[in-house]
Amino acid sequence: MGGVWNDAAAYIDSLGLDAYVVGGAVRDELLGRRAPDQDFLVPGVDQRGLRALLEPHGKVEDLEVAGQLVGARFFPRDREARQLAPAGIELAPPRAERSTGPGRHDFEIVADPSITVEEDLRRRDFTVNAIARRLATGELVDPFGGADDLRAGVLRTVTPQSFAEDPLRLVRALRFVSQLDVEPDEQTLRQMREQAQSVALVSAERVGGGIHADGMGELSKLLLGARPAHALRLARDTGVLAELLPELAPAIGYAQRSGRQHLPLDEHTFAVVQGAADAGAPLEVRLAALLHDLGKPQTDLDGGNHAARGAQIASAVLGRLRYPTRTRQYVTRLVREHAFHELPEPTALDARRFLARHGERLALDLLAHKAADMGAKHRTDAEHAALARLRRLLEAERGQPHRLGDLAVSGSDLIDIGFAEGPELGRTLQALLDEVVEEPELNERETLLARARERRQEGP
Ligand code: CTP
Repeated sequence: MGGVWNDAAAYIDSLGLDAYVVGGAVRDELLGRRAPDQDFLVPGVDQRGLRALLEPHGKVEDLEVAGQLVGARFFPRDREARQLAPAGIELAPPRAERSTGPGRHDFEIVADPSITVEEDLRRRDFTVNAIARRLATGELVDPFGGADDLRAGVLRTVTPQSFAEDPLRLVRALRFVSQLDVEPDEQTLRQMREQAQSVALVSAERVGGGIHADGMGELSKLLLGARPAHALRLARDTGVLAELLPELAPAIGYAQRSGRQHLPLDEHTFAVVQGAADAGAPLEVRLAALLHDLGKPQTDLDGGNHAARGAQIASAVLGRLRYPTRTRQYVTRLVREHAFHELPEPTALDARRFLARHGERLALDLLAHKAADMGAKHRTDAEHAALARLRRLLEAERGQPHRLGDLAVSGSDLIDIGFAEGPELGRTLQALLDEVVEEPELNERETLLARARERRQEGP
């Protein structure tokens, strides 16, 4: 087989399986957004039948989510088709809930060839995610009015059991509020309040990082949406926030001591997250915004450093939520350093010192955080102007030497002139860098070698 397909859907259609594209991809299509990936539903088969249909066309792997077999990941043999979805194409047989006992939690999700597309849609979380499109005809299967809800901006559960069936959906609801500009209807809101406590049962990986190599669990998607502050307020008001992030509970309604802080700590926090989102800041800055001041309620009592305490709390939260170590460490640094004193009249030298101290990425992210933080406090125009000036200076000075690797001499150059390997060598390089940060013109090989020799003669 050979051919040119616009997308994975066109390729799957060409296999004649009578498949449907389903869930988030249909929702995103209707919104005119590009779906990150497409999931397909193949009626009339079970897991084994699905494999049998796909195996003639390529490699098939079982797809498991949280220990449950939910379908297949398919890697087409055809090279062009494979390039349409390098991570594989996800297909599933129809599945539905089957009761296994009298209780609300007594059910299992089973795949069965007799299950219809409508039944499969019924087990899904929200009406806007319970729409399928038949590839062969383009016809929409939308038994719960999801397309109308989407147009009206309404987030509605498919059934009242939706959150009980999977409490992660409480966080997904908040994510969609932030990301898709939808609002839960009255009943969904009530269900959220009633079910809020069950969020504590959700496995941390699904909220934070962990199973998502990129740390893109539901909390990250919420923060990366356009309306995170609105979603976080809703999380607070339904009781979900205190279950999801107990570390934020002491911030709720907490009156700040500083006269320049006109908002309670939770509202200040939400405003800083929103400021970071409005500025298009990356996930790490938004996570830092969420966690930056959580040390305050404790250190107001014991006199500790609120940023250092906040960093400990941030590290614990991100560890618990299984964020990738890299993300956790970086966000923790942002929180630890966020309370730096801004200079009223920063100079190019100040900018180079800031770069040398933090490195370029952290330096710029700290300023992004600071801008969002200042936007949520009483600050003067002069203070905003000084921060903007430091930012411009950083942009201008970032090409100037500020890392050991930027020095015109290396460790081996110093060994060649008689230094021994060891801590003294490291201290000398650092001292040379300190001088070069103060005066970039000194960054000439001969000049630095001469200064290194002098330092050696002066000796310790
Ligand atoms: N779904 C669900 N309950 C969940 C997770 C997913 O009912 N806890 C259903 C929804 O129909 C959803 C589909 O499975 O649309 C696919 O889920 P996912 O791959 O997580 O995609 P979405 O969250 O919908 O969208 P995105 O691609 O933006 O993550």
